[in-house]
Amino acid sequence: MRNRFEGKVALVTGAGSPRGIGRATALALAREGAKVTITDIVADNVKRVVSELEEISQAIGEVADVRNKDQMVQVVKRTTEAFGGLDILVNVAGLTRPTLLLDVPEEEYDLVLDVNLKGTFLTTQAAVPALLEIYSHQNARSSLQRALWWVALPLLRI
Ligand SMILES: NC(=O)c1ccc[n+]([C@@H]2O[C@H](COP(=O)([O-])OP(=O)(O)OC[C@H]3O[C@@H](n4cnc5c(N)ncnc54)[C@H](O)[C@@H]3O)[C@@H](O)[C@H]2O)c1
Repeated sequence: MRNRFEGKVALVTGAGSPRGIGRATALALAREGAKVTITDIVADNVKRVVSELEEISQAIGEVADVRNKDQMVQVVKRTTEAFGGLDILVNVAGLTRPTLLLDVPEEEYDLVLDVNLKGTFLTTQAAVPALLEIYSHQNARSSLQRALWWVALPLLRI
């Protein structure tokens, strides 16, 4: 462990899944010293992962839907108020449906795009002002592009 994220604050969406990428990422960031906010739509899972994180670092858990920009704005607000800013965003919330092309109902298509694509967009929109705030202190808008962790894994499945 090298504490590479000591003093940093991270927000990881979709981190409730017990064997998911979000939980693993949140735990890895916490082990490296970051304070972490996680979100998911499954309340019990949020609670469980926050307990795990709190054994390692400071953590906040919020039940929030990435499709709802107001909810994500509130998550960012709560994070910056509690931890003093936001340095890292990891967009993991997403879903996939293993349905054959000809059988995909329109509602399922809309759901996958709403969560994976629009949810990633809205969450990023909600977080960027706080991310810019941190990086403007370093007068480095261009370094934001390098430093911003925009892990859009759900997009790989579209
Ligand atoms: N696991 C892989 O190998 C892999 C590879 C490429 C892409 N992906 C994609 O990356 C994403 C994450 O993968 P995973 O394995 O961690 O999936 P996962 O199903 O284990 O976790 C996804 C989490 O997102 C949450 N979520 C779903 N809809 C949400 C919403 N509207 N708002 C907030 N949270 C929501 C779920 O409750 C779940 O906890 C998925 O979209 C997946 O399709 C996964």
